[in-house]
Amino acid sequence: MALLEVKDLSIHFGGVKAVQNVSFNIDAGIVYAVIGPNGAGKTTLFNLITGVYKPTTGEIRFDGEPIQGKSPNQLAERGVARTFQNLQICMNMSAIENVMVGAHLRLDRNLLKAALRWPSLRSRDRELRAEAAELMRFVGLESYTNARAESLSYGVLKRLEIARALAMKPRIIFLDEPAAGLNPKETIEVDHLVRKVADSGITVVLVEHDMKMVMNLSDRILVLDYGKKLAEGTGEEVRKNPDVIAAYLGAHA
Ligand SMILES: Nc1ncnc2c1ncn2[C@@H]1O[C@H](COP(=O)(O)OP(=O)(O)O)[C@@H](O)[C@H]1O
Ligand SMILES: [Mg+2]
Repeated sequence: MALLEVKDLSIHFGGVKAVQNVSFNIDAGIVYAVIGPNGAGKTTLFNLITGVYKPTTGEIRFDGEPIQGKSPNQLAERGVARTFQNLQICMNMSAIENVMVGAHLRLDRNLLKAALRWPSLRSRDRELRAEAAELMRFVGLESYTNARAESLSYGVLKRLEIARALAMKPRIIFLDEPAAGLNPKETIEVDHLVRKVADSGITVVLVEHDMKMVMNLSDRILVLDYGKKLAEGTGEEVRKNPDVIAAYLGAHA
């Protein structure tokens, strides 16, 4: 059974059919890329799966359980985490506090329990801080732990967002253009980081325009065009697909 099953998923915004009858499965442990021109529906697809939008029609199953209609927090508890195309970092907090927000999202369900046992709260905070520091090392940001977020470069913030998503201890992570706006050196660092995340056993779903990175990392690729599934398969299959060449790769060549 696939970890994520998406069946006939659609969402309409008034007259705009942003995602139309899209179906695909993602097996556990792979890197899965979603590509397509601007406006193809990639971010909307992520928003549907991560509970930001409710689908007009369709079914989404995670680990066999229907999840459509669940909130982002409920999904985070189940192990679905994401980053945003437009950074969502709290600029007035330190880097490590931003990562701790991710851990708090995961632990909110235990808040009541924790509040009833207040002496344990301080040790819990220490635990979360240690965990967050470890994640900052994992993404290569250990030297920025106590820096204020507003003082950090865009490239650093992009990786900080990944650390925050990892703090939710996800089983699947959705990365929306993790290398957008980065220079070639930073792009390679993110490429290596995505590989490292996948190697740690987390299923990765990636939207990215950098084709070299996509071809390099992905086990399978879904191509969207005008909200519809144009093709799906290995990098090799997708690259050879005449519809893809005509509609997407051709347009970029
Ligand atoms: N909340 C919304 N309201 C209205 N239209 C939307 C909304 N979100 C996305 N869209 C539309 O859906 C289409 C797909 O957008 P998007 O998913 O952001 O594309 P991509 O991420 O592939 O560039 C676009 O036409 C966009 O304007
Ligand atoms: Mg997008």
